[in-house]
Amino acid sequence: MKSTTGKFGKTPHQPSLWTRADALKVHADDPTTTQPLVSANFPVLSDEVFIWDTMPLRDIDGNITSVDGWSVIFTLTADRHPNDPQYLDQNGNYDVIRDWNDRHGRAKMYYWFSRTGKDWKLGGRVMAEGVSPTVREWAGTPILLNEQGEVDLYYTAVTPGATIVKVRGRVVTTEHGVSLVGFEKVKPLFEADGKMYQTEAQNAFWGFRDPWPFRDPKDGKLYMLFEGNVAGERGSHKVGKAEIGDVPPGYEDVGNSRFQTACVGIAVARDEDGDDWEMLPPLLTAVGVNDQTERPHFVFQDGKYYLFTISHTFTYADGVTGPDGVYGFVADSLFGPYVPLNGSGLVLGNPSSQPFQTYSHCVMPNGLVTSFIDSVPTDNTGTQIRIGGTEAPTVGIKIKGQQTFVVAEYDYGYIPPMLDVTLK
Ligand code: FRU
Repeated sequence: MKSTTGKFGKTPHQPSLWTRADALKVHADDPTTTQPLVSANFPVLSDEVFIWDTMPLRDIDGNITSVDGWSVIFTLTADRHPNDPQYLDQNGNYDVIRDWNDRHGRAKMYYWFSRTGKDWKLGGRVMAEGVSPTVREWAGTPILLNEQGEVDLYYTAVTPGATIVKVRGRVVTTEHGVSLVGFEKVKPLFEADGKMYQTEAQNAFWGFRDPWPFRDPKDGKLYMLFEGNVAGERGSHKVGKAEIGDVPPGYEDVGNSRFQTACVGIAVARDEDGDDWEMLPPLLTAVGVNDQTERPHFVFQDGKYYLFTISHTFTYADGVTGPDGVYGFVADSLFGPYVPLNGSGLVLGNPSSQPFQTYSHCVMPNGLVTSFIDSVPTDNTGTQIRIGGTEAPTVGIKIKGQQTFVVAEYDYGYIPPMLDVTLK
């Protein structure tokens, strides 16, 4: 690959840009890119815990994998506190909204198993208390390594700081269920460097998390995607011609959009085991457009690289907007250039009548999209809501060239395996 010199120095690639012009094409409620309404009568996985980000066990090529016929998912999880005086309102009623909103601060990694790819049974915590070096266990990816059932769990160790880490353990199956063993030694991999990726010192609202390792189907090397922000002091970023794109007359004003600096990061492994990583410049930046491109992941299809990432309405910059949901970009080679799917990037967003119904979508290579239920209105005015903290109905999309289409809806939390591994 030819080296070029640009904003990120002399590197093999320059990031692709999600521009303000692209984002102007985002339209909520287009039926081909809108998640069907989630009913307020949804079932919950558990009355004891909230779950949100869901991480299906998969192999390094991205295939969702069951083990001896058992499907396994990992979830970010937090206890529900219906009887804790701290979460009672003035009338003595459980303030579930506050409990739910506080969950990030006590997120722990749990796992669940199933024979059917749904109806998940709680396995328990992945790591014992005290194993993870920080308070919060944030999102990542569990990778099944081999027929011995070894698993590398990549995740984000947060507070203090934000470090991409991994921990190795093993899946053990019986005819009655699944248990995870090991997961006792957490290895720090890397943190934001302040040169390509923004650090906490540069911006207290920085994002650096959500590792998604994969093998490039074309060059066979081991890489990792992650969420970041573009390096630099908060407020110092420039939203110039390139970031604005080709906008109509009257759309040149960028307001305070210099504060929105999301990017999709990438690192390459220096070793086969993925213990030693080198960060590369981002694949995609959204400076002037959006402040969060979370949980980035790929689907490799038809020789193309489909890059998906989740984002929120509240993280959009001045003058652009879009629904909470999953956005996508496509390229012919790993390092791009990436173009937004459907012209805008929007792949599956919440309907405007239920803007917070789901989040944290993960597009699987079989076209199924899993997410969690956040909150669903229970009356017509939208003032009364029911908190989810559970799996949303799975949605089927079809990916065709530079377009995607919603084509199906399945049961709550339906995550069928794409291949089964028999343990030796
Ligand atoms: C997405 C997310 C992730 C993060 C986790 C924290 O829902 O914001 O980026 O790892 O939730 O709870």
